[in-house]
Amino acid sequence: MARRIHTLAGYIHEYQRSVLNPDDFWSQIAETFHWRKRWDKVLEWEFETPSVKWFLNGKLNITDNIFERFLYTKGDKPAIIWEPNDPEEPHKVISYKELYKQTCQFANALKAQGIQKGDRIIIYMPMVPEAAVAMLACARIGAVHSVVFAGFSANSLSDRINDCSAKMVLTSDGNFRGAKTIPIKDVVDEALESTSSVEKVIVYERTKTPVNMVPGRDIWWHDAIDGISTENTAETMDSEDMLFILYTSGSTGKPKGIVHTTGGYMVYTYYTFKNVFQYRDEDIYWCTADIGWITGHSYIVYGPMLNGATTLMFEGVPTHPHPGRFWEIVDKFKVNQFYTAPTAIRALEAFGNEPLQPYKLDSLKVLGTVGEPINEEAWHWYHDHVGKGRCPIVDTWWQTETGGILISPLAGITPTKPAYATLPLPGVQPIIVDNDGNELKGNSVEGNLCIKFPWPGMLRTTYGDHERCRQTYFSQYKGLYFTGDGVKRDEDGYYRILGRVDDVINVSGHRMGTAEVENAINEHPKVIESAVVGYPHPIKGQGIYAYAICDLSDRSEENLKKEIRLTVSKIIGPIAKPDKIQIVPGLPKTRSGKIMRRILRKIAVGEVDNFGDISTLLDPDVVEKIIEGKDTAS
Ligand code: PRX
Repeated sequence: MARRIHTLAGYIHEYQRSVLNPDDFWSQIAETFHWRKRWDKVLEWEFETPSVKWFLNGKLNITDNIFERFLYTKGDKPAIIWEPNDPEEPHKVISYKELYKQTCQFANALKAQGIQKGDRIIIYMPMVPEAAVAMLACARIGAVHSVVFAGFSANSLSDRINDCSAKMVLTSDGNFRGAKTIPIKDVVDEALESTSSVEKVIVYERTKTPVNMVPGRDIWWHDAIDGISTENTAETMDSEDMLFILYTSGSTGKPKGIVHTTGGYMVYTYYTFKNVFQYRDEDIYWCTADIGWITGHSYIVYGPMLNGATTLMFEGVPTHPHPGRFWEIVDKFKVNQFYTAPTAIRALEAFGNEPLQPYKLDSLKVLGTVGEPINEEAWHWYHDHVGKGRCPIVDTWWQTETGGILISPLAGITPTKPAYATLPLPGVQPIIVDNDGNELKGNSVEGNLCIKFPWPGMLRTTYGDHERCRQTYFSQYKGLYFTGDGVKRDEDGYYRILGRVDDVINVSGHRMGTAEVENAINEHPKVIESAVVGYPHPIKGQGIYAYAICDLSDRSEENLKKEIRLTVSKIIGPIAKPDKIQIVPGLPKTRSGKIMRRILRKIAVGEVDNFGDISTLLDPDVVEKIIEGKDTAS
């Protein structure tokens, strides 16, 4: 297969080539695809505005490069293996040929419902193959998909619908998650009360939960495809036409719509999947993410399928109906590459080794992690007990904005080191800067992680607000993309990600902006003001610690805390619920009114001395009062 790196020397060679001559490097990879018209120029860029364009004037369709490209050689190969939430329900195996048919048919159905190239479609669905079909069908006709994780609240959903003026929502009657059935169509109905752009809702029947179908607006998936042709010619797209929008939290209150375009994203997810996981043609690859996150986009759907891989999709959760569920699935399908999040690893490790005992796990060749720093302890457990010491761990560092993996070992090719993402992939040029933007050269340095040269999978803008993209990522350090992460480069030149340096908390690998959570808490009528910080959590990586000034005149502290959690759940979704809430008489603020989170972060971890200079605080006594009340946090 084209462009696979086989040896460490090969990696070093390819890396050097990619830096010395990026145009040649990336065009050789892009040449392995089917383009309806070849690009005129590989790259045009500047990181001021910013403006980044790859494969300029190239014409293509990403689904042509999944289906038409593989139909003769891999038509009967399983594209998706789907394992349902309930182990008693039969699994499904969908070949490339079958997935192609379903995608074409649904693409035609979307058109029949009035969807045109460029229209935005929200996908708010469970982890069923139809969710992948929905994404691919959008890509086929040039509609822009925006997948919203089906655990987000009606309020979060309507914000996203409104931000991109979506014309359609794809959803289902319900969502099986462990022992629960979540009526997600009801959430859509509620969200649509505060939106006006949505004309049609297509509802996939999954749980047989009774739903209210609004005449003229709502249509069942099976009715939408009834009698619709399974033949479809893909729309011709420009390399820089939008492929999808994915919303993610930042340090301000409102999630941003990260925009990825067609040509560069295709080339980048293809290349990184192939090399990081070292996927071989007969392998079964499983990524446990949800398609509502970027990992699901790049490494369940696009990356694997662009490689003609077999990708396993799991509807359920790691611990239902028992904590050996993941391992049961690995053995059932003889999974070769297994890619999950540190939070899942820690949660499963907490059950001890017993749940692993009944399973052989001998098919595993590669283990992967993503989403947050993995602690050495969890790394070793994963390595020794899941991988039986045989499987390299690829600790893959990347972001929604980067589209694909930027820093990671290549499985079995480049060295691994516990808790280190190790080395940049070819084409990726990291740079570490201090807070003034000075480059920290050489090894054994620690600072802010930036990237100094574009890579094809990077974001192009934030939807509807390019200035926000500039400000968030390209304004701190002149001429650099700023990741928001702190990093260390050790004595061997390996990178270790240290976590966010901005006001973003990474809860179980999910990004939450502190301002976003505070805004939600403040919606409770009895909350006067709040401040949220992250603190180390044994399973989630980081937990959310909220300090709130409240009016407790007519309810108990316990009840108020319950209500606050409910409010956050309703406004953002259950993943944003604070783990600890402390009711406080005041917050430590500077004279200019800025909350000193540094102090709150220290108190949250029990470090109650050494605050440094607090004389600039408006009311220094408040710190003492917060410390005194620390034990009331719950
Ligand atoms: O802080 C880094 C952390 O997750 C952030 C990106 O979050 P998101 O856009 O939701 O994407 C997650 C999946 C790609 C990063 O800024 N992060 C991601 N992977 C790692 C990581 N931190 C440490 N090690 C990783 N492997």
